[in-house]
Amino acid sequence: MSGDSSLPRHVAIIMDGNGRWAKQRGLSRIDGHRAGAKNVRKVARAFADHGIKYLTLFAFSTENWGRPQEEVTGLLHLLSHSIDEETQRFHQANIKLVHIGKPDRLPLELRRKIKSATELTKDNTGMTLCLAFDYGSRSEIVDAVRCIKEGNVSPEGISETIFSSYLDTADIPDPDLLIRTGGEFRLSNFLLWQVAYSELYFTPVSWPDFNEKEIEKALLDYEQRQRRFGNL
Ligand code: IPE
Ligand code: IPE
Ligand code: MG
Repeated sequence: MSGDSSLPRHVAIIMDGNGRWAKQRGLSRIDGHRAGAKNVRKVARAFADHGIKYLTLFAFSTENWGRPQEEVTGLLHLLSHSIDEETQRFHQANIKLVHIGKPDRLPLELRRKIKSATELTKDNTGMTLCLAFDYGSRSEIVDAVRCIKEGNVSPEGISETIFSSYLDTADIPDPDLLIRTGGEFRLSNFLLWQVAYSELYFTPVSWPDFNEKEIEKALLDYEQRQRRFGNL
């Protein structure tokens, strides 16, 4: 199915709306995040079944550290728990796990878990599931500039292709389709360089409710788009 241009090769998702989903139900914000984390497995499987080669999920931004300590700790705990629960399942489904973002601010144990999950699945040939955790596009771009400077790359040696190779997403094609759940119309510092020509899809549906039916709607909408990349 990879040659089918009506199907995005790479789908990236800003998984937003967990807190409001919980509030509407009289639950705590962390309950919303728990429901959101649970939804990741189903959504990943559904996209893999559709033949999507790359799925990137925005789970925690560089700005999300500014939330109340209790919520931050809850989110770190949920990620840790999800890795324990899901890694073997993803591995069995031939899914390759990748992390983008800064590993160094995460608790050591969580860093180790991320490393072992990515190591375990690195040779898998099915869908690549890329988890953006402590990810921020501006920080990624600044780090790339720093590396280029430290590597003494000559000014003439810097091209768009070379610059891209210094980003966390170096081995991943740019997203064809960017989905944001939760009703906001913004990028919130997600993949700013990489979405230059992505098709954008915004849905009011909260992340915990983003199901197979909603996935089909998004893919159908993408199929109707005419991508021109500046040409006629
Ligand atoms: C998205 O849900 C998850 C993270 C940002 C970690 P939110 O927690 O932002 O949910 P809302 O936007 O408050 O509803
Ligand atoms: C974006 O959601 C980050 C993630 C989904 C991880 P936010 O809820 O943090 O974004 P803003 O604050 O509404 O822009
Ligand atoms: Mg939000």
